[in-house]
Amino acid sequence: MKHFLSLESITTADMKSILRRASYFKQERSRHPQPLTGQSWGLIFSKSSTRTRVSFEVGIRELGGNVLFLNANDIQLGRGEPIKDTARVLGRMLHGAVIRTFAQDDVEEFARYSGIPTVNALTDGEHPCQILTDIFTFEELRRESIAGKVVTFVGDGACNVPASWIWAAARLDFELRIAAPTAYQPANELLRRAGGRVSVTSDLAAAARGADLLYTDVWISMGKEAESAQRLKDLAGFQINATVVRLAAPEALVMHCLPAYRGNEIDHATLEAHAETIFAEAENRLHTQKAILEWMLE
Ligand code: CP
Ligand code: NVA
Repeated sequence: MKHFLSLESITTADMKSILRRASYFKQERSRHPQPLTGQSWGLIFSKSSTRTRVSFEVGIRELGGNVLFLNANDIQLGRGEPIKDTARVLGRMLHGAVIRTFAQDDVEEFARYSGIPTVNALTDGEHPCQILTDIFTFEELRRESIAGKVVTFVGDGACNVPASWIWAAARLDFELRIAAPTAYQPANELLRRAGGRVSVTSDLAAAARGADLLYTDVWISMGKEAESAQRLKDLAGFQINATVVRLAAPEALVMHCLPAYRGNEIDHATLEAHAETIFAEAENRLHTQKAILEWMLE
């Protein structure tokens, strides 16, 4: 039984094989086999989503499966039914689950009790489907491996997206620089556990210099809305804009996992100048996640 809960538990070989299959699924979009035929998968979401929800719903259907979208507030989970009971019920009816929630422990508990393949579609701890897609997009657009390249993450370095980047750097041998204010830097414990070529600084210019990929994410992640005013103040300056792009390598890509808040983590002109890359990245969620689902069935 395979789960896709964290990039920590995905080997280098498995990541590379998923990336190769993502390219196949993109090329053969309406012609590939349908390994989920006869299966019903549930999407159980406790947070908002556009890209993840639609890419999984469409992807599961294109792989031949049925899909149920379950807003966590509409099922008894939202009224306090324990995760382990929900998991044991759904595990007897569904063939797989895709979960977006708050605590990483909750998605792991669901996987443990449900006995069905379970995907982390974003927790406070990680966003593994996103980062594998971003790497696929980098390699697709640059037509070269990410190994040996420099990726600079700018913004809230302590949230889910940079955490998955940290595990990816350890597995795929690129240099990761995280530019964030001191209070928004990843936990030392995570950095120590992951290893890899990862550096953390509050010097944005130093981190951007010579980068092959400039990457950002929202300053206010889902669940952090109460901290909005403080975050806007603390993270001001950790923005991708023309000044930062000029410091990067001449052929550097600019990516954003979206949704974007123009004027915060990226300015309007930079987002629009790199829209081709950023929306290809969004589309690639579909292709990469199909490859992840196929890998889970192996
Ligand atoms: N990037 C991403 O996960 O987008 P959604 O929140 O819209 O799913
Ligand atoms: N860090 C963001 C990612 C959104 C896709 C969040 O958790 O809201």
